[in-house]
Amino acid sequence: MNNVYIETYGCQMNQADSGIVGKVLQDNGYNLVFSGDDADVILINTCAVRDNAEKRIHNRVHDLQALKKKNPLLKIGIIGCMAERLQDSLIKEDKVDVVCGPDSYRKIHELIQQSSAIDVELSNEETYEDIIPTQLNTDGISAFVSIMRGCENFCTYCVVPYTRGRERSRSPKSIIEEVKKLFDDGYRDITLLGQNVNSYIYNEEGMDVRFADLLIRVAQINPLLRVRFATSHPKDLSEDLVDAIASYHNICKYIHLPVQSGSDVMLKKMNRKYTIEEYLKKIDLIRSRIPDCAISTDVIAGFCSETIEDHKQTLEVFRKVGYDSAFMFKYSDRPGTVAHKRFVDDIEEVEKIRRLQEIIDLQRDLSLESNKKDIGKTFEVLVEGESKRDATKLFGRTSQNKVVIFEREDNKQGDYINVKIEDCTSATLFGKKIK
Ligand code: SAH
Ligand code: SF4
Ligand code: F3S
Repeated sequence: MNNVYIETYGCQMNQADSGIVGKVLQDNGYNLVFSGDDADVILINTCAVRDNAEKRIHNRVHDLQALKKKNPLLKIGIIGCMAERLQDSLIKEDKVDVVCGPDSYRKIHELIQQSSAIDVELSNEETYEDIIPTQLNTDGISAFVSIMRGCENFCTYCVVPYTRGRERSRSPKSIIEEVKKLFDDGYRDITLLGQNVNSYIYNEEGMDVRFADLLIRVAQINPLLRVRFATSHPKDLSEDLVDAIASYHNICKYIHLPVQSGSDVMLKKMNRKYTIEEYLKKIDLIRSRIPDCAISTDVIAGFCSETIEDHKQTLEVFRKVGYDSAFMFKYSDRPGTVAHKRFVDDIEEVEKIRRLQEIIDLQRDLSLESNKKDIGKTFEVLVEGESKRDATKLFGRTSQNKVVIFEREDNKQGDYINVKIEDCTSATLFGKKIK
């Protein structure tokens, strides 16, 4: 009666959170299993950021209900952002047994024992800092570490401030402890997570620790540990941070700096609090101090009243920055947000898709261009595992977060090797180890 299967959707924070839930359950006598077929309890950690993310989960829950025919005692729970957004409608309409919001995971074992249990209270303090998460679905080399929770930026399109609550930072001491343990367990690539890591702030014995300080402290744990972070809000990206990245070899030369739109009119309407001119200044700052830094972005196509001119400005910013990669979305109206209440979601679906496709096509060219520039150069690669397509080959990543495929030879996971790039596609680099 004690087998729990946790399935995770959504962002990296959800991956980290599933580890917290796993740990709480293990500490209370549950076993974690890796398939719904063996489970007495199935928990789905959910995302509410776009309507299609939610639709997928409703369908998944519907499919899982069929398992109850075989096992009538099976319990299905929804945790995470959809639990917070939809609350008891999940019990009424999706017929789930447990609904647990992102700040109630300490009680998950109690909720599982009740019927139709729900706890979606948000907290101003909870950071789960004393809980060292169980690494679920792990490759043994990369791990996510949550450094803060919540978001208070209230971008008008975004549901996260409502599903995750107030912004709060976790103590540096607990973060360092968790990362040290991961390093001792063989992990070599750590991503520090927050919705806006640049606003990290923690008062430690009367002194404010900010994100650049924290990043340096994590990097100093061991030079063999690669440190990454996500996400940076452009309005808060500081010179201190750029200098920290430049000064430490093991702080990865990769910044995810979501632009969302290339139009000042849209940015204002989105409440992003920067103009394109200011955004491009931050890009120049990065490029001048860290010439080999890769930059990626998020973008939304077809936000409320976006004109063709606004859309063209987005394409223009993509060309100007020459992103190495991008996460591209079409606008999805989210109930409860400011955009939902005040603006009209007036771009036709077909037009949103067309604009999105135009951005995707452009980014494919830009990624290929960026990868072609790497041909002939040598990069330090952290070996991560076997190539999925070819067992005679291994793959790893560069500091710039690009995937590289190379001959296996006598290399193994966790090795740092120098690889000279010989070929590429828009998604992958191919190279040879340099002795
Ligand atoms: N905190 C991060 C991102 C969180 S959500 C940041 O501010 O950059 C990840 C991405 O989803 C966002 O960057 C945005 O591009 C996208 N997104 C958020 N809400 C959306 C919506 N309503 N429709 C489409 N995309 C959305
Ligand atoms: Fe959403 Fe904006 Fe917060 Fe990112 S910064 S999570 S886009 S409200
Ligand atoms: Fe992440 Fe989705 Fe929630 S992006 S914070 S899981 S709404």
